[in-house]
Amino acid sequence: VLARKAKAEKRMVTSPASRNARELAAVRRQIEERAFRSERQLATAQQITHMGSWEWNVAKNEVAWSDELYRIYGLEPRSCSITFDSFLARVHPDDRQRIELAVSRAVEEKGTFHYRERIVRPDGAIRVLDSMGEASFDEEGRFLGLIGTCRDITEQNARERLEEGVHRVLEMIAAAAPLASTLVELVGVIEREADGMLGSVLLMAPSGDRLRVVAAPRLPPAYNRLLEDFPIGASAGSCGIAVHRRSAVFVRDILVDPLWERYRFVASDYGLRACWSTPIFGNDERVLGTFALYYRQERMPNEQQLELIQRAIHIAGIAIERSQMEEQLRELTAHLERAREDERTGIAREIHDELGQALTGLKMDLAWMGRRLERKEDELRERMTAMSQLIDETIGQVRRISAALRPGVLDDLGLVPALEWLAQEFARRTRTRCSLKTTVGDPPFTRDVATAVFRICQEALTNVARHAGASRVEITLDEKGDCLLLTVTDDGTGLKASAVEGQASLGLLGIRERARRLGGEVKVTGGKAGTTVELTLPLDHARLEAHP
Ligand SMILES: Nc1ncnc2c1ncn2[C@@H]1O[C@H](COP(=O)(O)OP(=O)(O)OP(=O)(O)O)[C@@H](O)[C@H]1O
Ligand SMILES: [Mg+2]
Repeated sequence: VLARKAKAEKRMVTSPASRNARELAAVRRQIEERAFRSERQLATAQQITHMGSWEWNVAKNEVAWSDELYRIYGLEPRSCSITFDSFLARVHPDDRQRIELAVSRAVEEKGTFHYRERIVRPDGAIRVLDSMGEASFDEEGRFLGLIGTCRDITEQNARERLEEGVHRVLEMIAAAAPLASTLVELVGVIEREADGMLGSVLLMAPSGDRLRVVAAPRLPPAYNRLLEDFPIGASAGSCGIAVHRRSAVFVRDILVDPLWERYRFVASDYGLRACWSTPIFGNDERVLGTFALYYRQERMPNEQQLELIQRAIHIAGIAIERSQMEEQLRELTAHLERAREDERTGIAREIHDELGQALTGLKMDLAWMGRRLERKEDELRERMTAMSQLIDETIGQVRRISAALRPGVLDDLGLVPALEWLAQEFARRTRTRCSLKTTVGDPPFTRDVATAVFRICQEALTNVARHAGASRVEITLDEKGDCLLLTVTDDGTGLKASAVEGQASLGLLGIRERARRLGGEVKVTGGKAGTTVELTLPLDHARLEAHP
């Protein structure tokens, strides 16, 4: 090169024509340098953004890939030549058809394409690419080929998937979905983040000295059965020890770790090799349970997995505490409700018996006095008759007040007579026809069930009187399968859509809650012609034991 350079320089000095050539060469060098620089910039940009580019020449069936694209596919740059088919062979089989379709549509419509596809690297790793491009044509409209770019969005895609999953779980918590389903979903979201990871959530039993499995969708069912009632202690597998120590216990290899001495063979029988368990804490630092990840190979968690575990225990903690609080609230409401019914029963009895008897006594005394009065004392006699009438009315009122608090028939004669009484009272007060049809017989229902059905029917009838403007109401009480079914149907104005979702009214909310406490549910339906309230209650434990 040096010799050539010296020769050229000599030529340049000697001839004027060579000066021209020298200038030309300088310009060319400049252009080449610029081209080289921009190519290098492009390559660097592609590397930084994990973006590759490609061009498919149809005539030659040759696909030119940029170096970065080779790297994205897990290949040495330019290590092999590419055709459309060899490209397609590297695409995940489930995505191939979709891609072919998008490309052929772009060719037909002389347009662009944009898709996400999974590719499989030679080592089997799957990457997610975001690809876009367009078909190119010559002046006569002949198809030349395709040109496009691919961006490796595997990490971004995984982040998006995780965020979507977390979002789904949080929605379930907000919607008060059953705790087990929420935690199964959470475990699924975490498991999806790494191949072969198996998750489980154990909950602290109310006694506080055992754990029980609540969500372990992919662990072997037989292994889960062993965790149904699991001890807590210094040698009780990763989970029992994590609760005992109140800190995470990561076991790389169950087969050799002394912590697993007692359960080693149980776990290894099911092919479980590594187990990392972390306690889930509540707001008050109480241990609520554990979140564990298993592997079938020995290993310790990496940074990303540690982060995942932290997120999982945080969300699981919220879910468990929320569900426990709801359960407590439900128990408290049930307790208050029972206390209120007991109080009502007491007051109703006292009013009925004490007041009623006192009034009856007064009436009898009055009658006695009347009989003893002189014939001429008419004025006094009239007064006494009026007093006696007043006492009669008061006795009637006392009975009604007492029955409104809690009808004696409910406790004395049972649910069906109480509903009959309710229907009659409703018809008398509102002058609306009201009938009760029932097929249920003995044995009688428990106090909780009888009270719930009675109060639900009472609220439904109150609603009919207040909102429906109905001319007739039909109440039915039947047994269907294992359930008790109560319906209250009116022929009134029907339910407005806003009424069903309305938050302010507590009547329907109370009805639903009462039913839920007993494991049942309430449906309120209605169109233009009336409304139906339908209560379904499971019958198991709903009846008192039949007395011999
Ligand atoms: N049988 C019915 N016919 C027509 N509308 C009804 C009927 N039952 C309920 N509704 C509608 O549903 C709404 C909610 O009923 P809900 O019993 O929850 O509340 P409310 O009766 O308005 O108030 P409260 O909390 O005192 O019971 C009512 O406001 C009413 O608009
Ligand atoms: Mg109401």
